[in-house]
Amino acid sequence: MSNNIVVAIDGYSSCGKSTLAKALAKKLHYIYVDSGAMYRAVALYFLRNNIDTHNHAQIEEALNNIHLNFHSRDYETHITLNDEEVSEEIRQMPVSEKVSEVSALKEVRREMVKQQQRMGKSKNIVMDGRDIGTAVFPDAPVKIFMTADPAVRAQRRYDEIHLKNPDVTLEEIFENIAHRDYQDTTREESPLVRAKDAIVLDNTNLTPDEQLQFALDKVEGLKF
Ligand code: DC
Repeated sequence: MSNNIVVAIDGYSSCGKSTLAKALAKKLHYIYVDSGAMYRAVALYFLRNNIDTHNHAQIEEALNNIHLNFHSRDYETHITLNDEEVSEEIRQMPVSEKVSEVSALKEVRREMVKQQQRMGKSKNIVMDGRDIGTAVFPDAPVKIFMTADPAVRAQRRYDEIHLKNPDVTLEEIFENIAHRDYQDTTREESPLVRAKDAIVLDNTNLTPDEQLQFALDKVEGLKF
């Protein structure tokens, strides 16, 4: 039996999961895994190769041809898709618009969950996503479910990306977030739901430091 610790952080799009997960991993010297980056890289492959999301054979073949790798430098996620660094490209709007459709496919989820479970087998990790506390690590000792006001989430994401991507509007981002919330919570395969034993963290009015303290208290409260 392994004694490693998994901290599962789930929640809606753009509500600061990765900021918190990264800070927590850094503080605890755990490994940080951004599971959304994996779905985004798969979505990028599907876009580039025009994979038909209704064609099961094509989906399976695509998954056999996709090789993802994480390289963590200073807790920043660097992900490669078949040895090509795609960390920047997976944050752009075309991928953000495609990713919910791709991440709703059961073949894709099955493969990603398998890879994620392998990563948490023997190391202490903080993983963020939508189904980490429910499907990937249902036995994780610490589960946090994050939420925040949608308008605040859109503004934060806008502040984060508009310098690099000046054409994007706040309205577009708001729409994209609302659409992803809808798709993530209503899809058949592992919809976004709070695990029964997850603690809710609404960070609408909390600073990053306050959120970090909240999460640290939960991890430090574990009895070994
Ligand atoms: O966290 P993010 O916004 O980068 O995630 C991108 C998309 O991937 C999001 O719309 C939902 C999906 N996702 C998922 O279905 N399951 C996960 N564990 C992580 C992300």
